[in-house]
Amino acid sequence: MTVSRRNFLVGAGALSLAATMSARGRAASPAILSARQGTAQIAPADYAATPIWGYEGRTPGPLLRIRQGARLTRRFVNELPQASTIHWHGIRIDNAMDGVPDLTQKATPPNGQFLYDFTAPDAGTYWYHPHNRTWEQMARGLYGALIVEEPEAPRVDRDEVLLIDDWRLTQDARIADNFGMITDWAHGGRLGNWITVNGQSAFALSVKRYERLRLRLVNTANARIFSLGLEGLAGWIVALDGQPVAAPTLAGGRLILAPAQRMDLIVDVTSAPGSKAQLVSFDRNRPLSIAAFDIADTVRNERLPAPVPLPPNPVPALGPLDKARRATLRMEGGAMGGMRGAMIDGRMMGMRALVDTGKVWAFNGLADMPDTPLIAASAGETIRIKMINDTAWPHAMHLHGHHFRKIGPDKTPDPLRDTILMDRNETAEIAFVADNPSDWLLHCHMLEHSAGGMMTWLKVS
Ligand code: C2O
Ligand code: CU
Repeated sequence: MTVSRRNFLVGAGALSLAATMSARGRAASPAILSARQGTAQIAPADYAATPIWGYEGRTPGPLLRIRQGARLTRRFVNELPQASTIHWHGIRIDNAMDGVPDLTQKATPPNGQFLYDFTAPDAGTYWYHPHNRTWEQMARGLYGALIVEEPEAPRVDRDEVLLIDDWRLTQDARIADNFGMITDWAHGGRLGNWITVNGQSAFALSVKRYERLRLRLVNTANARIFSLGLEGLAGWIVALDGQPVAAPTLAGGRLILAPAQRMDLIVDVTSAPGSKAQLVSFDRNRPLSIAAFDIADTVRNERLPAPVPLPPNPVPALGPLDKARRATLRMEGGAMGGMRGAMIDGRMMGMRALVDTGKVWAFNGLADMPDTPLIAASAGETIRIKMINDTAWPHAMHLHGHHFRKIGPDKTPDPLRDTILMDRNETAEIAFVADNPSDWLLHCHMLEHSAGGMMTWLKVS
């Protein structure tokens, strides 16, 4: 015993010295997160591997996991042939780390580097992706998940992240390079022909009956809205866009996931051993199994009790809505819309000229990023933005740096979100506390739509 204690002490001393050195070493050179070309087996095994762009050359990129309140430091190294940035989607972040070219940083050129260093105030399911030529870079596979862990995670047997993507592949399993197709831009965005979960066409997990899973669903597609269903799994929605819902709600019926949205489910495997449970995507009511859960055994005799709500994050509560600062955002353009023209660079242009420049959408009559913000607020103010979708298309509206609530006509606030799906001709009003100074984007997360004119910004001082 004395010997091992002595060994332990010696070992501990050596360890702490090593720890100090590596801590110092790390401070000098944080971990690298590169963006580079690679290949991935996206199509079935009898096809060739697909050339992709990915973080660390993989799609999805590395799964990043930190504790709530912890710091994430990564040196972004751009080995792509295009400038790029990293946006940490949904993190209520220090603005300088938000990754928006020409708003929060200069885009990092090929062979350039940028140090991202921030803390994550909220636990939940987040993700990271480029914000320069996003419509091309994300379509090539550049994205990854960022999970921020609760100090006390809910009781589950497994915690799985499912990044759901929609690829446009050619017959020889290459990524179709028709990124700028005006028909995609003016319609529903670039829709693909091949759906993967975590970059795999036949994603499968082997599970046990009555096992409890936390499934963190993320829509990483350029433009596809997923309509999902569970078979052989039963459970609850516990968080949306990273933020816990006040009370877990039954995950029955169709689960709608617009581009960039997340949904955390806690589900139990309810089918019998030998059968299969699955996550199904419905495309025009045609079901397609996108994730299979092969049930091998039984882990316990019955389902666990219903989960308690996840602990809320420190998002500030809304101030009085009648005193809030207000703005209106009219969304126009696209095919089958009534838009006649819009302003670019302060000049009025007709629809034909707009199409030639790729700008086929507008916010409040402007088809490019405005010089002045949609709204200027002082930090701590409650903001209301009324968004009017005056187009024939649905849009997934995303606000940077804040989570907001949709407020209904009876003023009951919906769950916190960072991206909401708006139906054609729908009007939605959102409210949030602008508590984070600097400049924040508000845009459609259908990437062809934001590049095509659906982008504005807010100023918080
Ligand atoms: Cu997912 Cu502007 O971001
Ligand atoms: Cu849109």
